[in-house]
Amino acid sequence: MNASNQSLPLFGWRRWKRVLIGISLTLLTSSVATAEAGAMNDVMRILEQSMSMIDKGIAKLDYSIVVAGAKQIEERPMPSWIDRAKIFADLGSEAPAFKEADKEMRRLARKIAESAERHDLEALRQAVSQLRHKCITCHKKQTQSTGDNK
Ligand code: HEC
Repeated sequence: MNASNQSLPLFGWRRWKRVLIGISLTLLTSSVATAEAGAMNDVMRILEQSMSMIDKGIAKLDYSIVVAGAKQIEERPMPSWIDRAKIFADLGSEAPAFKEADKEMRRLARKIAESAERHDLEALRQAVSQLRHKCITCHKKQTQSTGDNK
């Protein structure tokens, strides 16, 4: 039999404290190493998917697809506090810039949706190119800071 032979430390605060510290350390170390990339990638996957909806909508001149994609960026939920903590731990000194970029991306997404609703292709194209610029600028910074890929 392989049952855990330790009963839960229901009454000892010291034990609880150790457990809590243990949990925090686990969150801080293992999750930063593994799950944090997952949290960030979840955010990025939504962005990528929305971006391709926007592109597809423009290609087919179907403005409703563009609006749907843009709304997905604008109204995407914040990651849970724990995922945000992981993401910011990973970003380190880049965290404030990331928050700023996040706000900017939502603002541009609103601009995209509004232009699409007005069927204003010129304004739409401009806003999309500004948004894409955000993605590229940040990714470029990332590859620079994580070592150049020769
Ligand atoms: C402020 C910074 C920042 C901005 C802005 C940003 N990204 Fe990212 N993105 C990242 C980081 C950091 C990663 C790398 C995550 C990792 O280490 O796996 C990433 C990774 C990705 C990936 C790869 C995810 C995977 O599963 O491997 C995609 C796709 C992506 N981003 C799409 C986008 C799109 C589309 C936009 C713009 C609409 C965008 N990102 C804007 C920081 C940013």
